[in-house]
Amino acid sequence: MALHFDTSVRNSRILSVGAYRPARVVPNSEIVDRIESSDEWIRQRTGIETRHIASADESLIDMAEAAATIALRRAGITMEQVSAVIFATITYPYQAPSAATELIVRLGNPKAAAFDISAACAGFCYGVALANDLVRAKTAEYVLVIGGEKLSDFTNPDDRATAFIFADGAGAVVIGPSDEPRIGPTMWGASAESRDAILMHPSWLDYKKADTRESAAWPDIAQQGQTVFRWAVYEMAPIGLKAIAAAGLQPEDLAAFIPHQANERIIDSLARSMKLPESVQIARDIRTTGNTSAASVPLAMDALLSSQPELHGKNALLIGFGAGLVYAGQVVELPPLPTK
Ligand SMILES: CC(C)(COP(=O)(O)OP(=O)(O)OC[C@H]1O[C@@H](n2cnc3c(N)ncnc32)[C@H](O)[C@@H]1OP(=O)(O)O)[C@@H](O)C(=O)NCCC(=O)NCCS
Repeated sequence: MALHFDTSVRNSRILSVGAYRPARVVPNSEIVDRIESSDEWIRQRTGIETRHIASADESLIDMAEAAATIALRRAGITMEQVSAVIFATITYPYQAPSAATELIVRLGNPKAAAFDISAACAGFCYGVALANDLVRAKTAEYVLVIGGEKLSDFTNPDDRATAFIFADGAGAVVIGPSDEPRIGPTMWGASAESRDAILMHPSWLDYKKADTRESAAWPDIAQQGQTVFRWAVYEMAPIGLKAIAAAGLQPEDLAAFIPHQANERIIDSLARSMKLPESVQIARDIRTTGNTSAASVPLAMDALLSSQPELHGKNALLIGFGAGLVYAGQVVELPPLPTK
């Protein structure tokens, strides 16, 4: 027998964004000696000049709480009004319970639906896709989406392939109902035949007893840089173009391009391949933030809006891609200029 309930859908939008960057700024010069590298090489090959690294007593949840608190204030929404929290991360040091449940306790609404998603650097864009559908289908009224990482706990400072790339931070958005469609359809998928290209190997026996990276063998992230680079450059531009078309737009209708901040050469190559016009502002947060995986897109969004407030309320293409290899992209209307 068919069920009887309201099956109508509504529109949704990003109401606000919030960001948290740890206070400690680490320049390339602090990293290069251990990996026989140079400031010049890192800048030329990746665009990175500095990154933020959390202190030993600053947790992933501390960073997420700070970013979420700003996003909630800017949206004018209390935590009691949030019915679901989606936390994208690969660096929460427990398989269960989730980072999202720790966060809702901290934020004072331990009754909200809460879960984590493991989609690495695509995690935030996966979260936007899920939150959009939850709001559209009326499963949730307001959804808090967090992308947060403490990658410094999982990066070997002596690994020449990763030590200069990864960094820490958290970003958050509040997604809620809208009069008009302001989040476009998500183009997502995987190239899982290359799932070995980025790996984090846990050594749980040591790891679960350890309080800090220094006190035991923590899992380290490892990557085949060139495999990831080629995949991103060749495969992500068509996904971006599909996301623009699915939103009913042309590249010239965009005001901004906010891709995952993995490597500035990847960012430039994608913009060229998609033939984005000069008028499209490109997020280059990687220069001072490094690669913060799931946090990178919301951090880059916040930085772009801070430096160019005229972009509030304009359309931006988001694309996240990373370990899996997985990806997701969508066009969104950037949140309005906050009044609080
Ligand atoms: C990691 C990355 C910057 C490396 O750049 P690359 O141009 O592919 O570097 P390669 O590994 O081909 O090495 C090129 C040269 O630089 C050298 N090199 C490698 N790492 C180096 C380092 N940290 N410092 C200085 N030199 C380095 C290599 O020895 C090699 O030297 P050679 O030409 O004399 O043999 C690049 O592959 C990349 O950004 N990939 C994408 C990674 C990514 O985005 N990961 C996150 C997932 S979302």
